[in-house]
Amino acid sequence: MAESLEDLLQRLCAVVPDYPEPGVTFRDLTPVFADGAALRQVVDALIEPFAGQFDAVAGVEARGFLLAAAAGYASGTGVITVRKAGKLPRAVYHEEYQLEYGSAALELHRDELPEGSRVLILDDVLATGGTLAAASKLFADARVEVVGYGVVLELVQLHGRAALAGHRVRSLLRLS
Ligand code: PRP
Repeated sequence: MAESLEDLLQRLCAVVPDYPEPGVTFRDLTPVFADGAALRQVVDALIEPFAGQFDAVAGVEARGFLLAAAAGYASGTGVITVRKAGKLPRAVYHEEYQLEYGSAALELHRDELPEGSRVLILDDVLATGGTLAAASKLFADARVEVVGYGVVLELVQLHGRAALAGHRVRSLLRLS
């Protein structure tokens, strides 16, 4: 029997204890990106529920860029970069947020998408939801509709979905 996508992701995802600091267990998805068949399945599965409903795909720095680039290519849409503060050269919207460990800020170019357009936001991991909620606020500032979120891994015990209430979330592997 063919291996399910969930089983494939479970097998490829590397578990790294005490990274980036003691007590934190890091789920490293780089082996998923390194596997061509897995990457294709992941990207297809992330965009499938939203087919025809978005005008652009946004990726959140850094690993979200990998997914968004592939998803934009697969769906024939453009790719938008939601970047860590200080990386974008022109006028930006700015949003502070809390991480599972630490805090940060995300930015979006103000003129990246026309008002009223629709965006699908992709990232590798949904943990507390702070990152994707901040990304969502940036698009709200830009008057761009967020049609949903796609992530490879959802850490369900951190209740990230609660931070994204009202939006559809597609996650491919849910771990506690
Ligand atoms: C990680 C991950 C998500 C975010 C999820 O990124 O790639 O973007 O944390 O956490 P949250 O749901 O609790 O907000 P990180 O900020 O470590 O940045 P990186 O991708 O640049 O390593």
